[in-house]
Amino acid sequence: MRVLVAGGAGYIGSHTVVRLLQHGDDVVIADNFSNSSPLVVDRLRRITGRPVKVEEIDLTDTADTKALMRNAKPDAVIHFAGLKAVGESVTNPGSYYSVNLRSTLSLLAAMQEAGVYCLVFSSSATVYGMNPPVPTPEDSPTSATNPYGWTKVMGEQILTDIAASHPQWRIGLLRYFNPGGAHPCGAIGEDPLGVPNNVLPYISQVAIGRRDYLSVFGDDYDTPDGTGVRDFIHVDDLAEGHVAALHRLTTMPRSLDVWNLGTGRGTSVLELRAAFEAASGRPIPYRVTARRPGDVARSLALVTKAERELGWRAQRGLLEMCQDAWRWQSQNPDGYR
Ligand SMILES: NC(=O)c1ccc[n+]([C@@H]2O[C@H](COP(=O)([O-])OP(=O)(O)OC[C@H]3O[C@@H](n4cnc5c(N)ncnc54)[C@H](O)[C@@H]3O)[C@@H](O)[C@H]2O)c1
Repeated sequence: MRVLVAGGAGYIGSHTVVRLLQHGDDVVIADNFSNSSPLVVDRLRRITGRPVKVEEIDLTDTADTKALMRNAKPDAVIHFAGLKAVGESVTNPGSYYSVNLRSTLSLLAAMQEAGVYCLVFSSSATVYGMNPPVPTPEDSPTSATNPYGWTKVMGEQILTDIAASHPQWRIGLLRYFNPGGAHPCGAIGEDPLGVPNNVLPYISQVAIGRRDYLSVFGDDYDTPDGTGVRDFIHVDDLAEGHVAALHRLTTMPRSLDVWNLGTGRGTSVLELRAAFEAASGRPIPYRVTARRPGDVARSLALVTKAERELGWRAQRGLLEMCQDAWRWQSQNPDGYR
């Protein structure tokens, strides 16, 4: 299969490109490198020994996206491209709605024109809002607590409407829980610009000495140690989930379906910190600060639907995730820079 990977130079996209190439698929990456480095492409070629085509493009530009789609002639598209920092979306909501929705609409228009109807969309557990059942099944109501989350709810709604009106589409919505870790070779990984938005890269930067301590937002939640519990999933498990979803779409009877990608296992922030200390051999000092508005006590995926329908389940554990994240961080203290 020939796959156009929109946002394929980014964190989850680059790991998915490795799995696609190793699976025998051909890949074209489309990215404007607004939150990634072109250097990742050489590393992908080195890891896989396979060619990777790259197109530098702003996917909010519909004319350029249509031209790309005509030239690339993919069988399917995986859409990772967009902005993802929750805090930044609160201070700058306009750019979040603009980039995340316009890139999706551009890709849809380009795919429609080129007759490409197979799409995997990066969604997030954030679409379950404040009080979903835990573990959370896919048929829970969707909602959001910040503009980033709303761009995912709205993206899902647009795709649901398109799939309902044009039954030739095959669309998979993948709701990720908390991705972490890196490819085990240490050559690719998460490389946040500025202050990391997620806890694992933050801990990693404390371990390497780029930050002084970890801020733990609240230790009075109704959880065993009082800190928030999350479902951390290794990015390579997530990548394999995309390959499974893509190939499921080719035989899927319905025009749209949705799957959680998580492990179903919960880890508290303090447990994550302890695992990272064990993996890195470095101390991770921390300070407890106030709860963050919008944070929930526990977030866990119900994973049975993905297991049953995609034949996929997460294989890697917490320690492996921390060891792989540390290998990437220690071999690349300043990321791709
Ligand atoms: N990382 C997470 O914790 C997480 C959790 C749930 C969902 N997601 C979603 O998964 C997707 C990928 O996340 P990630 O962590 O790999 O993010 P990332 O920022 O590393 O990757 C996104 C890529 O999209 C590119 N991009 C952004 N705007 C673009 C545009 N207009 N045109 C072309 N390229 C553009 C960026 O340069 C980057 O390479 C995102 O849609 C994100 O919302 C991420």
